[in-house]
Amino acid sequence: MPICSSWWIPISALCVIFVGIFVSRLSDDFKVEIFIWQTPPKYENELRRNKALANEEILMKGDILGPESIVVEGEMFYTGTMDGKLLRVEKDGLKKKILKTNLTPSIILGIRRLNKNYFVAIDMFNGIFIVNFDTGEVKLLLQTGTNINGFQINIPNDLDILDENTIFFSDVSSRWDTSHFSYCALESGFTGRVYKYQISTQELELVLDKIFCANGIQILPDRQSFLVSEMCAARVTKYYFTGPQKGHREIFVDNLPGYPDNIRLSNTGTVYVPMGGVRHPDMSSYIEILGPYSWLRRMIMQIIPVKWLNSWVYNQLFSIKYGLVLEYALNGTLLRSLHDPCGVAHKISQVTDDGTNLYLGSFENDFIVKVNKTEMERKLLTKEDTNL
Ligand SMILES: *[C@@H]1O[C@H](CO)[C@@H](O)[C@H](O)[C@H]1NC(C)=O
Ligand SMILES: *[C@@H]1O[C@H](CO)[C@@H](O)[C@H](O)[C@H]1NC(C)=O
Repeated sequence: MPICSSWWIPISALCVIFVGIFVSRLSDDFKVEIFIWQTPPKYENELRRNKALANEEILMKGDILGPESIVVEGEMFYTGTMDGKLLRVEKDGLKKKILKTNLTPSIILGIRRLNKNYFVAIDMFNGIFIVNFDTGEVKLLLQTGTNINGFQINIPNDLDILDENTIFFSDVSSRWDTSHFSYCALESGFTGRVYKYQISTQELELVLDKIFCANGIQILPDRQSFLVSEMCAARVTKYYFTGPQKGHREIFVDNLPGYPDNIRLSNTGTVYVPMGGVRHPDMSSYIEILGPYSWLRRMIMQIIPVKWLNSWVYNQLFSIKYGLVLEYALNGTLLRSLHDPCGVAHKISQVTDDGTNLYLGSFENDFIVKVNKTEMERKLLTKEDTNL
């Protein structure tokens, strides 16, 4: 069939050229970098398994959806949820006041007290809100998607308060918004940022960039430095934003046994780093295995729809049902680890300490875990519990 074959050659050549152009055009959208994860640490020494967080009291079961971040004061706790609710709840979990952002979707990932009357809450889809639980006021301060002097706010995640006028907050990525969050992990790019926002002047200032999935942020008691979770890199970075060491950046802790979420100070001046997701101590996730193969990750991103990648990456990061929190001294020494091997407390996104109890938040669970600290200390001392 001479006619057919003479047509076939130029058409397939054209096809190859088109596919080539298509692929190379797509390639420009991704900035894929190589990142090598170390083998996750074994559960030994300070990381030895225990039941410190197991069999604890469950608050508000089924009444609340994804209380990622919690503030506890006296008889009240305050939290925000993955369905855009802001709650003030008496500690028994019964009496509550519920405010709403009135936006969908709306996922509250961080909450802090700003001053006597106001809280500040951060919503990954909508931005930073100022909240007054007494008057019911919920006001948007800084909207997600806003571009100020070339800085685009994409996935605001957690925040801390320097003074009544100054908020530090993290943005997961300067390149992708929430609907493309899997690309942040798959590019292995250092595109996360920490910003400083002045409420009175609405000024936005870039404080720190080149963070791999910026997540939890905690200003340290020296008021000169903060810790920020580099979630996908399984590490925490420390940065001096003022004082004699201004501009100095260091790794606070590396190769964590999981992916760190909201960092908070304990009542005794130590640091709680919760593992939002846990890394399997004997088995690397596919994301980590693909770390050295940037070309393969690029291809995966080009071929597979982002919706599927989002749920795949989410599962890779968060599917292990195990509760784990690490407690550090301010100098970065690991003091101890708190476990729930049964995994009732899992996907722990924050630990809030009121001196008597710990309250464990989660970005997905429909409850808050309340841990009696006296009981917890007893469990940590009990021999049979540590010989799991
Ligand atoms: C870090 O702090 C802890 C607790 O305060 C202390 O026991 C330890 O010796 C310190 N380590 C270093 C290297 O300074
Ligand atoms: C915590 O547990 C201890 C020991 O079981 C108990 O005496 C104490 O009342 C508990 N505290 C709270 C606040 O429930």
